[in-house]
Amino acid sequence: MNISLKKRKALVGGSSGGIGKAIAQQLAESGASVTLMSHSEEKLNHIVNDLPTDQGQQHQYLAVDFNNFKDYKQVISTYFENNTVDILVNNTQGPAAGSALEKKVDDYQTAFDLLFKTVVFTTELALQSMTENNWGRIINVASVSVKEPLSYLALSNSIRAAVVTWAKSLATDVGKHNITVNNVLTGYFDTDRIAQLNAKKAEQLGIEQSQVRKEMESRVAVQRIGDPKEYGYLAAFLASDNAAYITGTNIPIDGGLLKSL
Ligand SMILES: NC(=O)c1ccc[n+]([C@@H]2O[C@H](COP(=O)([O-])OP(=O)(O)OC[C@H]3O[C@@H](n4cnc5c(N)ncnc54)[C@H](OP(=O)(O)O)[C@@H]3O)[C@@H](O)[C@H]2O)c1
Repeated sequence: MNISLKKRKALVGGSSGGIGKAIAQQLAESGASVTLMSHSEEKLNHIVNDLPTDQGQQHQYLAVDFNNFKDYKQVISTYFENNTVDILVNNTQGPAAGSALEKKVDDYQTAFDLLFKTVVFTTELALQSMTENNWGRIINVASVSVKEPLSYLALSNSIRAAVVTWAKSLATDVGKHNITVNNVLTGYFDTDRIAQLNAKKAEQLGIEQSQVRKEMESRVAVQRIGDPKEYGYLAAFLASDNAAYITGTNIPIDGGLLKSL
């Protein structure tokens, strides 16, 4: 199977590091022109110059702050005045960790702005040209927590459930335009986010970070943490013509972490 995204234009959130960066890299390697989007302009500038251009790809970046929805709205609206997107990867940084007992009502509002409002607003804008072109791919970076909530990630558990339900509704609405909408249920991947969460957990439990990681690996069927590159392969497939009949799904990429059917 040949995955070609030549002439496709992709917008990838949270792509100066971790999972988003690996997705952007793989989409670009498959021929897509990528707009990177995250906070640090310095990192974005560095990464954009490293993306492949051997298939005539033209890459760019957009510096945004997902924590400030008002500003984000303005920046992304301006972007869409001058750009169209065929492949949208909705991905932001994770919300703050903490249990349901620790989190207060305002924390949920903040997480809602970050994980839900940015996604819905960006998708609304992207859908304009996708509908006109009768082709589109929307990929939401979600979490295995929508199937098995994690006790110390109450905000993520709650709001991601809303995102995947919204995505399912949207998939039904836009399928007639050859636009697919899928959620990827992320397991454990080797990124800064996981390192930060592990550091917090190690501190709480008074143990070494390496011990937290070992325990984490032991819960995964294949006994290891995922390489973000592996995430990129799935995203490139979902973004391709080959995946035209896959929509409205929740696809785990977790090495067998989820134990539910
Ligand atoms: N890694 C895992 O195992 C795992 C598991 C389940 C779910 N997830 C979820 O998957 C998503 C990606 O995770 P990840 O591990 O790749 O995270 P990560 O390594 O922390 O990367 C986050 C990305 O978001 C950007 N970012 C951070 N703050 C930002 C802001 N205020 N505005 C705009 N961009 C910002 C970062 O760029 P800058 O440095 O430029 O700010 C970076 O590119 C998160 O929502 C996470 O909760 C991850």
